Amino acid sequence: MSSCNREGGCGGDMPLVCLTDYEEYAKEHLSKATWDYYAAGADECCTRDDNLLAYKRIRLRPRILRDVSVSDTRTTVQGTEISFPVGIAPTAFHCLAWHEGEVATARATEALNTCYITSTYSTCSVEEIVAAAPNGYRWFQLYVYRDRKLSEQMVHRVEALGYKALVLTVDVPYTGKRRNDIRNQFKLPPHLKVKNFDGVFQETAAPEEYGIPANTLDPSISWKDIYWLQSITRLPIIIKGILTKEDAELAVEHGVQGIIVSNHGGRQLDGGPASIDALPEIVDTVQGRIEVYVDGGIRTGSDVLKALALGAKCVFIGRPAVWGLAYKGEEGVREVLQILNDEFRLSMALSGCRNVAEINRNLIQFSKL
Ligand code: FNR
Repeated sequence: MSSCNREGGCGGDMPLVCLTDYEEYAKEHLSKATWDYYAAGADECCTRDDNLLAYKRIRLRPRILRDVSVSDTRTTVQGTEISFPVGIAPTAFHCLAWHEGEVATARATEALNTCYITSTYSTCSVEEIVAAAPNGYRWFQLYVYRDRKLSEQMVHRVEALGYKALVLTVDVPYTGKRRNDIRNQFKLPPHLKVKNFDGVFQETAAPEEYGIPANTLDPSISWKDIYWLQSITRLPIIIKGILTKEDAELAVEHGVQGIIVSNHGGRQLDGGPASIDALPEIVDTVQGRIEVYVDGGIRTGSDVLKALALGAKCVFIGRPAVWGLAYKGEEGVREVLQILNDEFRLSMALSGCRNVAEINRNLIQFSKL
């Protein structure tokens, strides 16, 4: 969905000025199957589309005459300072968008001093990613496999490599039904691999799903597995994919260190809430006991401001980072992050906030929701 309407398309010397410009560029330049894979939502894409529309419904209550000549966008996540409250959500297969893949993403996030959540399904290995950007701040996104040893080995590997937290994705007991991927018979091209599992799975004739054998993920995963995960790692655990206050309370009770409010970019359950609409009840339940983050549909700096006003400590972007990659690799991801940073700083100033501590719910016009 584009709202910038760049006349004349993406050709010529016209600069790319907002995230939707990068989206248009990616759509024009990626193959149809790759574009469809990144864009996909589940079923009728209601939740995917509502992730964006929900931000557009929210109105702000700006304050004036507050001396915004100096502004500071820094914040902390899990006790570590980052330059602004936007990180990169885990998305798979960056080599489909740019030949250097996740290595480019890692360099861009290191340069901008923000958090990069590496997907399990990366097309560069975690070792390659760390070697490319040794000083980057990174979390690792984990799935739980039927073969628990596989998950355990991955946890120990990333812990040894200096990853600072585990992000356990809990909204994929089964993969959502993404119609275009089925129509296109989406498959990783033969020269690309899920690098972290190189040599782990035997070559078989068994059906493959997104680069690994189907049925590898464990749909029987339950809350007791949080205790199992805690028993094999000292890293903070952040649960990604919570959308209700009931599950937020359970997450706190099970001793995790953070929640990412997320519907997987609308790729799993179609008909669930926009993630920004789910955020307030979760923030109210958690009451500051652990950090709450949100992803899904962030496309402008004022979206970031709205999410923070509603209680998110930090937001994460999925598809926009891939659009940046598709445009110019590391440089493109840097540009996407820099645009969001600049827009966020401007929105803060125009609403009278000098630093992130001054952003709160008074900024939101609830009567319009
Ligand atoms: C994802 N997402 C995802 N999440 C995860 O935990 N592990 C993964 O491997 C992936 N892979 C993935 C691939 C692609 C192409 C997309 C678009 C998304 C979900 C992702 O982390 C995040 O929740 C959403 O992308 C956020 O929505 P936006 O920013 O894309 O609107």
